Amino acid sequence: MSDEPPVIEVADLQKTYRTPFRRRKVVALRGINVLVRRGEIFGFLGPNGAGKTTTIRILMGLIAATGGTAKIFGETVPSRAARQRLGFLPEQPYFYDYLTVGELCDLAGRLFGVDAATRKRRADELIARVGLDRARTQNLKKFSKGMMQRAGLAQALMNDPDLVVLDEPMSGLDPIGRKEVRDLILELRERGKTVFFSSHILTDVEAISDRVAIVARGQVRAVGAPHELVGHTQLGVDVSLRLPEADPDAAAKSLAGDLDASAVRRADRQLTLALAGDADVDALLARGRELGARVLAVTPRFETLEDLFLRRIAEVDDPATTTPASAPRAEAAS
Ligand SMILES: Nc1ncnc2c1ncn2[C@@H]1O[C@H](COP(=O)(O)OP(=O)(O)OP(=O)(O)O)[C@@H](O)[C@H]1O
Ligand SMILES: [Mg+2]
Repeated sequence: MSDEPPVIEVADLQKTYRTPFRRRKVVALRGINVLVRRGEIFGFLGPNGAGKTTTIRILMGLIAATGGTAKIFGETVPSRAARQRLGFLPEQPYFYDYLTVGELCDLAGRLFGVDAATRKRRADELIARVGLDRARTQNLKKFSKGMMQRAGLAQALMNDPDLVVLDEPMSGLDPIGRKEVRDLILELRERGKTVFFSSHILTDVEAISDRVAIVARGQVRAVGAPHELVGHTQLGVDVSLRLPEADPDAAAKSLAGDLDASAVRRADRQLTLALAGDADVDALLARGRELGARVLAVTPRFETLEDLFLRRIAEVDDPATTTPASAPRAEAAS
């Protein structure tokens, strides 16, 4: 078990796109490192233009890296053997418009050399699983974005892959559709599969990932289990008070002092103040008591994954921490 290679192993991966007409280089990846173990759900999280799709396209053997190494099941990509054990949902799935979802799945199965009986059985199962049973006879042309995403998921699973790579699988889906995709990913893990998926929607990634990598400007800025990445940095303290019956407004005003409006929440007589890490909590509580307020709760406030995500991205957006040659996002099509 221990000498089994990681399912995905990316080391110092670099990619510079050259756009001939603009005579400009776009540095998309500046040394990405990622290691995904068997059976993990790994979330690849980052803002637009971070380099998620570029990394995935290199892993899929669709484009070549300009530096570093990428391996799947221990084999350097592109590898035919590795490709056989892999299912892939591209970011903007483009499928033949005049196919039905059944035909699309059948085609995907054929490309992997799956026999006819198995293709039929898997297509039936998968189409039902992604909720497209009733749209079976429609052309993909008539599909909505969400239906297309489901069709893409079904075809990605036709070879019963050990590794499933999904580029923005929740994009274009409403909250219910997103929940369904999350459940499907969890189900894949239960069946022993490894799932690597990208997203820029933090809550989708946080909810189901065993580990996440936060990527920004072509580099991994943090990696770990969601609970490991957060909860260490105490940002401050939340103090909830019940204001006195007599003149609650004056008491609220006095207690809020010169706090920023965003740090003050009030619902009727309940006042919650988000104090900074270095605030004098004792002094505030004493003042509250003097004013006739009752302390309801004093809660330490830890950094959430969203805070961390925003902070890591802000760090790289800060010109002081990046190279002046940082690439603007080119709109060049691939
Ligand atoms: N074919 C291409 N030619 C030139 N530049 C490209 C090409 N594809 C991507 N880029 C650039 O590389 C950078 C990384 O893009 P990439 O698509 O990998 O990001 P992403 O993290 O997938 O973003 P998104 O969340 O928008 O999908 C961006 O600056 C992008 O403009
Ligand atoms: Mg992308």
